[in-house]
Amino acid sequence: MSDQRERTFVMIKPDAFQRGLVSEIIGRFEDRGLKLVGAKVTRLSREQAEDHYGEHEDKPFFDDLVEFITSGPVVPMVWEGEDATRQVRQMIGATDPAEAAPGTIRGDYAVDLGRNVVHASDHEDEGANEREIALFFDDDELVEYDFHESTWLY
Ligand code: PPS
Repeated sequence: MSDQRERTFVMIKPDAFQRGLVSEIIGRFEDRGLKLVGAKVTRLSREQAEDHYGEHEDKPFFDDLVEFITSGPVVPMVWEGEDATRQVRQMIGATDPAEAAPGTIRGDYAVDLGRNVVHASDHEDEGANEREIALFFDDDELVEYDFHESTWLY
């Protein structure tokens, strides 16, 4: 049986937070049927940002990226579900919003590569999820539970 408990890291970026898109973005993943197992509102220190984006340290946009991601509150989250990493990547769309298909989160809400509303772990980078989840969450901040639909849906 496939792993229904695959966990993936997602972060709502400062532009989306300032624009009031937090509930919209969370709603997209809920509507898809993914399970929210961890979330917080926080503001990254420069050190955290440099750690998180460490692999891009030599890129010309690195300083801009760190400046932007530390500029205001963000919402790091962990979503769980079968094939969750790939599903989430599909849902957020291409990194460059100009290339992102309508219907994807970036395709619907972003126009600028440097302000692309949401980050998600790369499904092609094995270990990215675990590494990024560990940067933002302690084990006891992630909740294990089942959905009990019949208890509150009628
Ligand atoms: S690369 O070069 O292909 O490895 O980089 P890429 O995966 O496309 O992007 C890595 C993250 O950097 C952000 N990015 C930028 N920020 C600001 N300015 C420019 N020009 C720029 N280009 C890329 C991009 O949004 C990625 O962030 P995350 O949070 O991972 O989506």
